[in-house]
Amino acid sequence: MELVQLVDFQAHGDERGTLVSLESAKNIPFEIKRVYYMFDTQSDVARGFHAHKKLKQAAICISGNCTMLLDDGLRKESVVLSSPKQAVLIDPMVWHEMSDFSENCILLVLADDIYDENDYIRDYDDFIRRCQK
Ligand code: TYD
Repeated sequence: MELVQLVDFQAHGDERGTLVSLESAKNIPFEIKRVYYMFDTQSDVARGFHAHKKLKQAAICISGNCTMLLDDGLRKESVVLSSPKQAVLIDPMVWHEMSDFSENCILLVLADDIYDENDYIRDYDDFIRRCQK
């Protein structure tokens, strides 16, 4: 499977503007239990730098653009997120780093579970060791 899995959303546009709807099992391939978003990010400050043991996520740059690096322990691939009509899926056991935030970037993330610090792997060497098991 490709490391970068993108989901393109249908956009409902008319003279009033554009609307995108996100729905579990319809265009988001998991049950959405949590939504969070990042804003006031800085172009020269990267964040993320972790993987999740079990959590599935989808990230959508609903304003501006940023770069998402994905790393499954074997491959590293980057994708520029620049459309509110597209998500990148972040599977469990995928190290991810977000960087190059544009001005007014808003990165929305959907997750299939509540926040749990025990699900995080924040040490890269630990991540690689776990990938090799
Ligand atoms: P952090 O994991 O450091 O952000 P990033 O992955 O972008 O580097 O999260 C920043 C802070 O927000 C940290 O104190 C944990 C907290 N947080 C929550 O309370 N709930 C959440 O759902 C998330 C994602 C983070």
